[in-house]
Amino acid sequence: HGTSRINDHGHLEIGGVDAVQLREQFGTPLYVVDEELIRRRCREFIGAFKSSGLKFQVAYASKAFCTMAMCRIVDEEGLSLDVVSDGELYTALQAGFPPERIHFHGNNKTPREIDMALEAGIGCFVVDNFVELELLNAMAGERNRKVNVLLRITPGVSAHTHEYTSTGQQDSKFGFDLGNGSAFRAVEEASRQPNLVLLGLHSHIGSQIFEVEGFKLAVEKVMSFAVKVRSELNVLFKVVNLGGGFGIRYVEGDSPLPVVEYVHAIVDSIHTSFAGQDYPVPEIWIEPGRSIVGDAGTTLYTVGTYKEIPDIRKYVAVDGGMTDNPRPALYESQYEAMLANRATAAPEEVVSIAGKCCESGDMLIWDLSLPKVNSGDLLAVACTGAYNYSMASNYNRIPRPAVVFVKDGSADLAVKRESYEDIVGNDLIPERMKKAP
Ligand code: LLP
Repeated sequence: HGTSRINDHGHLEIGGVDAVQLREQFGTPLYVVDEELIRRRCREFIGAFKSSGLKFQVAYASKAFCTMAMCRIVDEEGLSLDVVSDGELYTALQAGFPPERIHFHGNNKTPREIDMALEAGIGCFVVDNFVELELLNAMAGERNRKVNVLLRITPGVSAHTHEYTSTGQQDSKFGFDLGNGSAFRAVEEASRQPNLVLLGLHSHIGSQIFEVEGFKLAVEKVMSFAVKVRSELNVLFKVVNLGGGFGIRYVEGDSPLPVVEYVHAIVDSIHTSFAGQDYPVPEIWIEPGRSIVGDAGTTLYTVGTYKEIPDIRKYVAVDGGMTDNPRPALYESQYEAMLANRATAAPEEVVSIAGKCCESGDMLIWDLSLPKVNSGDLLAVACTGAYNYSMASNYNRIPRPAVVFVKDGSADLAVKRESYEDIVGNDLIPERMKKAP
């Protein structure tokens, strides 16, 4: 992927930095992020839209991977930023991300989060439900402010992906249902609220999607809804946000499209749908997360113990696991990996990679072909840039790994490794439990 290659020492090199050297300098487990590849993906999205002639915004879905350094890159590349919590918003603001390019998502924004976003003056709220609609209008009114909103609708399109990452179907916790009239009522209400400026609609059909059909279908549904709303409520949508979900290749057999093809398909169906209805072609916004950072991430682990069950399986354990990558345990996600310290050695055995957590489900990869594995080997798991660091936990009180950005031969710490002090940092011992001196 990206700038990765095998160098003269037979080691994996990412961004011009030797993985073995990264281990010496930063330890393992370690998230290594290929900065150049992130920038390339950002430019692919922007470039594909620029050539379309439509007005657009590409908002990076920061839930995939949110750190201050990442926010800096996204800002420098001219993308907008989608946040879904006070923590993500705070991170973005601390990184100096321009608030007017921040979009706020979520199905249960708390008053405190809304307050923080209003205070910062963010660009747009993606309103999810009626309770939020009223709350936001009231809170904006208290500040004498008018805020831009999109209404998140559930278009009734099912993306062919894992159940937990599929969001466009009717039975979903997200958004106003298009089918049962609630989206219509939401438009009615939003356009009546004095402190809300209704820009348009938002639809996100799911994640890790390999085809364009779902997006096209969503555009068609949005369009016929837009036409209905124009004729019955005299409301025009200036913006249509089609969410994220563009798939990436984790393992052989995954067949995502190149970024530009998703964009072209969306742009084409917008043109045909809206122009055909004599509707002013709206601005298109999208929210890629995984497709921006997913393949830019590699996790380095040191192999520790192993165990062979004759005729059944060899378990090889690494110094991380579901705490730094919960995706295999949660979604049965698959990954590819290699020995970064012996990258040219021929495969000799099939092993399964176990994490170190006290849980049988903590397996990272089943049946992986590797050279004969020894303790001390350096295992590199590819495509761990999205929803790994951002979903990491301290289960078993394991400190979260460091994040290093690599580019042109230099390696820079973007997140420090958690320390034992961090682990107990918020712990308190109530007075009555204190140990007598
Ligand atoms: N916009 C909205 C409203 C979303 O809910 C999401 C993802 C995105 C954009 C970005 O989707 P992406 O381009 O990254 O697919 N934890 C799961 C993925 C959950 C996705 C949640 N929403 C995983 O590890 O696969």
